[in-house]
Amino acid sequence: MTKTNTLPTTTLPHPPRAPGLPILGNALAFRAAKGIPVEFIQKTLRTYGDIVHITVTGRNFYLIGHPDLAHEIFLKRVNEFHKAVRISKRPIALSRFLGHGILIVDHDQWKPQHKLIQPLMHAKHIERYADTMSKFGEQMLSRWQDGAVRDVHADMTQVTMWIIAETMFGMNIDQTPDMQRESDTAQQIAVYDFIAPMPKWLTGHRDREAQRVNNFLTGLVQKFMAERRAQGQVERHDLLSLLMDTRDEDGNPMPDRFIRDNILTLFFAGHETTANTLTWAFYYLAQNPVVLAARHREVDTVLAGRTPTLADLPNLPYTLMVIKETMRLQPIVSALPRAILKDTELGGYQLSGQSLVFTSPYVLHRDPRWWDEPEQFSPSRFSPENEAKIHKYAYMPFGAGPRICIGNHFALMEAQILLSMMVSRYTLHLEPGQMVEAQRQITTSPKGGLSMRLARR
Ligand code: HEM
Repeated sequence: MTKTNTLPTTTLPHPPRAPGLPILGNALAFRAAKGIPVEFIQKTLRTYGDIVHITVTGRNFYLIGHPDLAHEIFLKRVNEFHKAVRISKRPIALSRFLGHGILIVDHDQWKPQHKLIQPLMHAKHIERYADTMSKFGEQMLSRWQDGAVRDVHADMTQVTMWIIAETMFGMNIDQTPDMQRESDTAQQIAVYDFIAPMPKWLTGHRDREAQRVNNFLTGLVQKFMAERRAQGQVERHDLLSLLMDTRDEDGNPMPDRFIRDNILTLFFAGHETTANTLTWAFYYLAQNPVVLAARHREVDTVLAGRTPTLADLPNLPYTLMVIKETMRLQPIVSALPRAILKDTELGGYQLSGQSLVFTSPYVLHRDPRWWDEPEQFSPSRFSPENEAKIHKYAYMPFGAGPRICIGNHFALMEAQILLSMMVSRYTLHLEPGQMVEAQRQITTSPKGGLSMRLARR
């Protein structure tokens, strides 16, 4: 991996630089966290200001701590702040696995993909998925029993996987230990490509592991496509049909690689994120009895134990507030890296080209300048009157600007349906004695799962 420290050509000052070790720079903070060191990023920004220069094994990173700067990066000057994989000429991080899918590609290649896929995720279009979401919520609830101890993270991963597989690919798929393991490995490799960059001749082991995971993932897509072909001529309006039926101007189908990359992107981006959000919501609810009691009042009045439908959602506003507050305290994507390819200016400072710019929703979401008592779990921040006052770029669990999450409406609807039906039937208590630790890779999950005891209401 190459790195060039281009000398600044202007007279602007450089941002303050956090102290670090020779050569390693601040790499140890990243290694110690085995992922995104949000506490280190938070402390560094609070100490040195809203743009701070650190280095990680020789590469420049700029940490960003102000919503106005995020506004520049993600919206106003989006064409200058590239998807982070552009820092390398060869596939690194998520591009190793998701290739040229919509999440990864830079702006020029992204536009046609977005035009193709976005209509599928439009708020009106996804309303039709509400019944599928409830159906699989019931399927999960049929596995739950009073007094049982469950790994809620595994359950949420399963139920969201059923939902994404049926809505996007028209198939039923069960979470397997292999799938969880390979997905964890992919995330580890993706993060390590940034936090422990190595020259090509040293990445042999990492490359082989990535290849193994890729073989597994390609097998998964082949299974999706084979099942669809076996289903014959059933007319469908899902992602799989869209990708398989789309033709270019010359009437040729999309290349297999394009289909593969986008199927995997939507499959993984579309379930792990929501699964983790729901898992953390159960965690916070278990620790906040007053909030839980308010949730019980809402679901008991609106649902009285029955399965929710689309029509119920406007009557479950507190459930949505709980989800939004969960995503504030525990944004599942805790850092949004971008690459700057050339020297540029930001916030009155000179930034060197070939660097990474790190905006952390976790840090923005806990900044006392924008949030009262930021460490408190308090869903009322998201009541309609309070939510209107939130600085737009101080809250960005779904990212921001043109590259904002394409599945945000889908995710919120799904989380609102599943959380309301589960809370209306069961109270979940944290199993005592477990150390709940956030593992922050590309997504944030409770390390080793989350054990909770079910109490039937
Ligand atoms: C609570 C759940 C979710 C969270 C927290 C979340 C978070 C995010 C974030 C932060 C980004 C922006 C990444 C960046 O700027 O680099 C993103 C992009 C994306 N998400 Fe989500 N996501 C969620 C659910 C979903 C779902 C349900 C789907 C699909 C059904 C989805 C599909 C995507 C795709 C395709 C992109 C790339 C969009 C583009 O670049 O045009 N996500 N997501």
